[in-house]
Amino acid sequence: MKRSFVAILSAVCWILFALLSATRPLHAQSLSEVEREHPDISTFVTLTNETLGSELSTIAARHETITVFAPDNSAFDALPHAVLDRLHTNHTLLKDVLLNHILRGNITAHDLLGEGLIEAKTLYDNSSVLINATNTSITVDGNKVITPDVFFDLGVIHIIDGVLVPTNLRHELLG
Ligand SMILES: *[C@@H]1O[C@H](CO)[C@@H](O)[C@H](O)[C@H]1NC(C)=O
Ligand SMILES: *[C@@H]1O[C@H](CO)[C@@H](O)[C@H](O)[C@H]1NC(C)=O
Ligand SMILES: *[C@@H]1O[C@H](CO)[C@@H](O)[C@H](O)[C@H]1NC(C)=O
Ligand SMILES: *[C@@H]1O[C@H](CO)[C@@H](O)[C@H](O)[C@H]1NC(C)=O
Ligand SMILES: *[C@@H]1O[C@H](CO)[C@@H](O)[C@H](O)[C@H]1NC(C)=O
Ligand SMILES: *[C@@H]1O[C@H](CO)[C@@H](O)[C@H](O)[C@H]1NC(C)=O
Repeated sequence: MKRSFVAILSAVCWILFALLSATRPLHAQSLSEVEREHPDISTFVTLTNETLGSELSTIAARHETITVFAPDNSAFDALPHAVLDRLHTNHTLLKDVLLNHILRGNITAHDLLGEGLIEAKTLYDNSSVLINATNTSITVDGNKVITPDVFFDLGVIHIIDGVLVPTNLRHELLG
């Protein structure tokens, strides 16, 4: 009697667990899921997905992780029309600029906070960005991290309020 009650209870628990798992996946989220939860970075996610698809697949295939500084939509909206035109017409330029937002490794806000000034290499050529991490705030090349630690299947995304233009492309992009 007691044993069958335990068995039923255990079965009920497993069914509940299965239902919860189905509605709330335990695995890390894909870029599409990130975009659904953070529509304020849809421009960056769409451009990255379209432009860096093969790079992202390579990173996934090698089981490597990345840290992405994702400008929000208003950062792209704030760019002068001429700059947006250049990004849209020059695929190489767009790819280079997007790669400048990605670092190797899964670097969380906790890893950065309090570390001061860090020059970090990006995936674009030999370019680097300057991270300024106080105890309470993080900036990248002067742009504020507004939402840290959005985890996804390849690592972590920190949402920032400006676009990171590589130094050597500043002339090409900004005219
Ligand atoms: C990324 O692109 C693939 C096909 O190229 C598409 O199926 C997927 O929905 C896109 N994801 C996002 C987040 O745009
Ligand atoms: C496109 O941008 C690259 C830099 O990413 C630059 O070297 C090249 O000259 C540009 N091409 C055109 C047609 O403007
Ligand atoms: C990148 O930097 C390293 C050392 O900082 C240097 O040896 C290498 O030549 C550079 N590569 C390019 C493509 O500039
Ligand atoms: C780093 O950020 C702090 C706090 O915003 C600021 O006081 C400091 O001047 C910054 N350092 C540099 C080199 O930008
Ligand atoms: C940052 O935090 C550390 C350790 O918690 C503390 O020793 C240090 O004084 C703090 N720095 C500032 C500028 O508040
Ligand atoms: C990235 O780091 C976080 C925090 O340590 C961890 O929960 C997550 O699984 C890591 N992501 C990957 C893809 O390794």
